[in-house]
Amino acid sequence: MTGGGGYIGVPLCEELLASGRRVRVLDLLLHGQTSAADQLERAGVEVLQGDIRDPEARRVALRGADAVVHLAAIVGDPACARDPALSHEVNVEASGALAADARQAGAVRLIFASTCSNYGRMSDPTVPITEEGELAPVSLYAEQKVQIEKALLAGENGGLKPTCLRFATVYGSAPRMRFDLTVNEFTRDLWADRDLEVFGEQFWRPYVHVRDAARAIRVVLDASPERVGGDVFNVGRSGENYRKLDLVEEIRRRIPSGRVSYVHRDEDPRDYKVSFDKIRKTLGFETLMTVPDGIAELIDRLNAGDFPDPFDPVYRNVR
Ligand SMILES: NC(=O)c1ccc[n+]([C@@H]2O[C@H](COP(=O)([O-])OP(=O)(O)OC[C@H]3O[C@@H](n4cnc5c(N)ncnc54)[C@H](O)[C@@H]3O)[C@@H](O)[C@H]2O)c1
Repeated sequence: MTGGGGYIGVPLCEELLASGRRVRVLDLLLHGQTSAADQLERAGVEVLQGDIRDPEARRVALRGADAVVHLAAIVGDPACARDPALSHEVNVEASGALAADARQAGAVRLIFASTCSNYGRMSDPTVPITEEGELAPVSLYAEQKVQIEKALLAGENGGLKPTCLRFATVYGSAPRMRFDLTVNEFTRDLWADRDLEVFGEQFWRPYVHVRDAARAIRVVLDASPERVGGDVFNVGRSGENYRKLDLVEEIRRRIPSGRVSYVHRDEDPRDYKVSFDKIRKTLGFETLMTVPDGIAELIDRLNAGDFPDPFDPVYRNVR
C-alpha cells in the first residue's frame, strides 16, 4: 500500500490486518506521522519510509505483492495548487510509474484512490450522478485524478487489473487526523467556539466516514480481480449527500457554541450529488456510519482531549 501512513491509510492497514492479510506500506510520512507509523509496525505492518517517485523504493515495496492499493498523493485542491509541479510528479508521473512497476512485479490488481471531485460542477446537481456521468473537474487535484484514471483504465496493463474508487469527501476521527476536511473542520471550529465562515452553503457534496472508506477498499480486495478489474466505483452512500448548510445544522444540534456566517465566494464551485448504488448492488457494500454519527464521535474525542491542540498545523495538508 502506498500512503498507508495517511488519514485513510492507517484505518485501512488495521482493516486489512484484521482480515488476515500481510501489509507493506510505502509512505514518505510527509505530515510527520511517525507515531502512526510506529503503531502500524507494532501491529505487524512492514513500514518503508520512502518516496513513490523513487524507482528503487517502488521496487522494494512491490516485491512479492499481489495487490497494490495506491493512496499516496499530494491530497486536496489547496495542496496541489500550492505546488503544481510537485503534485504532477507525485500524482501523475509516479502513479503511472507505480502501475508499470506493479505490472512488471507480477501484481494482479491495483486499487487507485480517486475522488468524487472528478464530477466537479454538475449541470443539475439534484440528480445523483453515477459512474457513467460526465467528469468535469474544476481543480488541478481532480484533473490529475481524472488523468490517472483514464490512463489506468485505457492502458495496456498486462495481467494487472486496475480498479478506480471515487471516494466521497471523507470525515471522522483516525490515528493520522485531518482537520482540513469539511465535516471535521466545521465540527472542530464550532466545538472550539470559533467564528465559522461558510462559503457555497447551498452546494451539495457526498461524505463517507474514514473507516467506511477503508472497509470499501477491503470489500473490493475481497472480490475477484475479474469482477472489479477495469471498473470504477463511487464510494459512499446515496443518502449521505449534504449541503454545507445541513452539516452546520447537524453540528448545531449537538453543540450550540460558535458563530456561523455565510459568505459568497466563487473559488470552490464544486456542486455534485452522487449515486452510490453501483458499489452496493455489485459488491454489497453498505456504509456503517453517517455524518451525524461521525460528528458525535468527533465531539466525544475532542471533549476527551484526544487532540491536545486540534488547530495544530500537523492536522492540515497545507501549512
Ligand atoms: N480524504 C478525502 O476526503 C479523500 C477523498 C477522495 C480521495 N482521497 C484520496 O485518498 C488518498 C488518501 O488520502 P488521505 O485523506 O488519507 O490523505 P493523506 O494526506 O493523509 O495521505 C496521503 C499519504 O501519502 C503520503 N505521500 C505523499 N507524497 C508521497 C510520496 N511522494 N511518496 C510516498 N508517500 C507520499 C503522505 O505522507 C500521506 O501519508 C489520496 O490519494 C486522496 O487523493 C481522499
